[in-house]
Amino acid sequence: SAENKELLGVNRVVIYNTSCGPDLDRLLQSYAQEGFLEVVPWPIDKHMNPSRGWHFPEHGGDIHYFGQLTTLNECIYRSMERSRYVLLNDIDEIVMPYKHDNLMSLMDTLQPQHPDVGVFQIENHIFPKNHYEPSGKFHLPQWRGVPGINILEHIYREDPARNIYHPYKMIVQPRMVEQTSVHEVLKYFGQTYRVPLEVCRLIHVRVALRGSLTLEQLNVDKRLWDFQEKLISNVDKVLGKLGFLMSEN
Ligand SMILES: *[C@@H]1O[C@H](CO)[C@@H](O)[C@H](O)[C@H]1NC(C)=O
Repeated sequence: SAENKELLGVNRVVIYNTSCGPDLDRLLQSYAQEGFLEVVPWPIDKHMNPSRGWHFPEHGGDIHYFGQLTTLNECIYRSMERSRYVLLNDIDEIVMPYKHDNLMSLMDTLQPQHPDVGVFQIENHIFPKNHYEPSGKFHLPQWRGVPGINILEHIYREDPARNIYHPYKMIVQPRMVEQTSVHEVLKYFGQTYRVPLEVCRLIHVRVALRGSLTLEQLNVDKRLWDFQEKLISNVDKVLGKLGFLMSEN
C-alpha cells in the first residue's frame, strides 16, 4: 500500500511503530532506506497498557487505541515546516482522486476554489474483502505466498449508510491545524470542506460494514485498476528484492 501512495504523489509516509513482525519489518526498513518512509519508534505498550479498540467501556486500557490521537497530532506538528499537506489516514486506506491523476493535481484544483480551507474531508468508502472480482485477473501467481489482502481483487463498494454516522478522513494544511481527532479536526484556523465523492473518496478494503448488502446492492468500482501497471510492477520489485515472490515454477 505504500506503493500506492507513492503513485498518487505522496512524497513521504510517517509510521508510528509500536511493534512489527519480521516480514513487515524488512519491508518497512527497505522503504525507510529509500527515504520514502519515516519510522517513529512508538513503543507505547512498554509504558502504558493501551486499549485494543476504540470504545473505552468495552476495551478499557490506560490510553485510547495505542495513543492514536497523540500520534496524529505529533504528525501534524512534525510536518508543519516541511509539508504543504498531510493526509491523516490509516495504512489500509487510500485517498483516491477520481477526476485527477494524482493528489497534487487534485489539491491544485481544490485549493484555489476554496482558498480559506485548511481541512479537506474525504468520505470513507468500504470495499468488503469477502467479495472478489469474478474473473480473478489480478489473482497473480507470483503473489500466492504473500500474506495480506490484494486490493486489486476487491472492486465492490458499499454506499455509506447516510442516515447514521459515517466517518471521514482528512487532508489538512498542517499550519492551519492546532489539534485534531481521528475523523475531524478539533481546533483549526480557516474553513473545512467536504470534498464531493465524485471528486475524491477514501478506498478502504476491510470487513463489510453493511454486511447485509447483496452484490447487486454494491457499486462496481475499478478506479484502482487505472494504476494497475505501475502498481503491480512496483510491488513486484519490492517483493522480489525482499524475497517474498514465488519462483516461476
Ligand atoms: C519497529 O519496532 C520494533 C520493536 O521495537 C523493532 O523491533 C522493529 O525493528 C521496528 N521496525 C522498524 C521498521 O523500525
